[in-house]
Amino acid sequence: MPEEASLSPVLNENISFKPPGDFSKNAHASDDAIYHLAQTDRLAFWESQAEQLHWFKKWDRVLEWEEPYARWFVGGKINIAYNCLDRHLSSWRRNKAAIIWEGEKGEQRVLTYFDLHREVCKFANVLEQKFGVQEGDRVTIYMPMIPELAIAMLACVRIGAAHSIIFGGFSAESISDRVADCQSSLLITADGGYRAGKVIALKNIVDKALAVDGSPVKDVIVVAHIGAEAGVQHNTGRDHYYHELMADSPARHEARPLDSEALAFLLYTSGTTGKPKGIMHSTGGYLTGVTYTAKYVFDLKEDDVYWCTADIGWITGHSYIVYGPLSNGATTLMYEGAPGYPGKDRFWSIVAKYGVTLLYTAPTAIRTFMSWGDDYPAKHDLTSLRLLGTVGEPINPKAWLWYHEKIGGGNCPIVDTWWQTETGNIMISPLPGVTPTKPGSATHALPGIEAEVVDDQGQPVARGQAGLLIIKSPWPAMLRGIYGDPDRYKQTYWSRFPGVYFTGDGAQLDSEGYIWLLGRVDDVINVSGHRLGTMEVESACVDHAFVSEAAAIGVAHEIKGQTIVVFVSLTAEHTGEASASEEIRQHVAAKIGAFARPEKVIITQELPKTRSGKIMRRLLRDIADGKVIGDTTTLADSSIIGSLKEKYEKLEA
Ligand code: WTA
Repeated sequence: MPEEASLSPVLNENISFKPPGDFSKNAHASDDAIYHLAQTDRLAFWESQAEQLHWFKKWDRVLEWEEPYARWFVGGKINIAYNCLDRHLSSWRRNKAAIIWEGEKGEQRVLTYFDLHREVCKFANVLEQKFGVQEGDRVTIYMPMIPELAIAMLACVRIGAAHSIIFGGFSAESISDRVADCQSSLLITADGGYRAGKVIALKNIVDKALAVDGSPVKDVIVVAHIGAEAGVQHNTGRDHYYHELMADSPARHEARPLDSEALAFLLYTSGTTGKPKGIMHSTGGYLTGVTYTAKYVFDLKEDDVYWCTADIGWITGHSYIVYGPLSNGATTLMYEGAPGYPGKDRFWSIVAKYGVTLLYTAPTAIRTFMSWGDDYPAKHDLTSLRLLGTVGEPINPKAWLWYHEKIGGGNCPIVDTWWQTETGNIMISPLPGVTPTKPGSATHALPGIEAEVVDDQGQPVARGQAGLLIIKSPWPAMLRGIYGDPDRYKQTYWSRFPGVYFTGDGAQLDSEGYIWLLGRVDDVINVSGHRLGTMEVESACVDHAFVSEAAAIGVAHEIKGQTIVVFVSLTAEHTGEASASEEIRQHVAAKIGAFARPEKVIITQELPKTRSGKIMRRLLRDIADGKVIGDTTTLADSSIIGSLKEKYEKLEA
């Protein structure tokens, strides 16, 4: 299939783009001096980055490393919200736009640093005075992309409460699991949000999530964003309206000096088991990492209008819509809605309307725009753009080149940034004024980061070879653990190779040592840049009354990168194959969230298994990829494969 072939990260290592000369000249980094600096003394380099921040008390030791636990800037006292807000108020940035917000309906709100600081202080007072939230508490946030989301997160970190943000596409059950895991007694939400012209009634989903026995949530704060249309049921005693709480809340609040290692937030992400893991991030190290990378990777300048199109519910939004840009005193744009609404040119109209200079988006979005055609971007003046970025999945060279030409007008550097929820900040990426780029390659580890591609034995691979991506030494923004599960932390990241962080990604080095990411090597799939565990999907399937067994796999998809295909066997009683497939798809969407809905569900009498009863997913992948079926000699019943292949091909047709 030619389309799939064009998706694969083929090494086109001979095509390369130098940073445009005038870009380089004016960039924060114009030559490789910064790489040398970091190489010469890595810890001193990180200290110099931490020194860019305001510390109430300077650290005593830069790093304490007791594998696999790192403590950075030990003994230092710092506050994330203070660095993102207060310290800018004594400069001209006081009246600079901190957040420019555009609603899906076209409304606009601008919060200056002064405005944002005031709202955050008021809300911090609400949390402390009206709900008794204390340092170390966990606060769950389930909100649409509105400024109150940024206000809520900044208020949490201001008082030392850890936020746990759940992406608005997750289901009620996903919320219940997460609040139970971190025992959060306060939840902040909105009546709803707009998405592609429809109201997503978030508060109703929250009500469902909290209607389980033993829910730890005692109070719910609700932002009235939609109004009557959201159909909210007010639960007296438990629910409180944000605007009512804020009305008389004082606007003065002292940011609390927090330990550098204080838990700043939890963010749940998928792994290789059915249960999502609460990734823990620290305060001083995390902020150092995102401040540094936002500045150098995006070359953030005072007069930039920076737009990261991610949702704040994912790590990209945490680090590069809110904390990284605000800590740098930048103007960050936040858009509430869908990229194709009301017209397929919505993104480009936003770029033109606000004169966006830096644009950071996902390969899946770029492929969608490509499929819509060149006319939509061509209708708008995109000449304000000076840098483009991508994140979330490997970008195929074809999409990279389209982005470069049709959006960047051929003269914007592209930063393909590789990183993870766990890494906190960008790890592998070009520096736009320094690194010649190659479409499809994230190029090199950033200064201060030691990445390597290794073989099964943990030995570095030679140029031209593929292997596993590891990080050799601790970095400030690295995760501090998995909430409540230290064993899983060690097992997942630190057991594959002793002493080094295992990313779960495959990668290849080209003849010049450029890194080309090849996707996950574990049971994690990446659907439109959203991370999902195959086990999570499988447990959602077998939870359905008539499913007896399920095997989920990721299959290459032209736009989404990967989609989910599930093979299931049914119990005796079911409603017939066609309707069962549809029902299972809906069931998974209801259990996890709509973005997890399988593309295809193939019903089978039995799944292919080894004689010892292990499902052979490798063979299922061969079927889905249309490949020659691999070795079936270990199968208990090899006739299953033929009939599965037939069914799959029929479905494709
Ligand atoms: C994948 C998103 C190739 C990778 C920030 C990683 C990428 C997972 C890239 C993390 C990229 C992210 N090129 N693959 N530029 N960026 N990935 O936790 O497989 O949602 O392990 O963090 O996305 O996804 P997560």
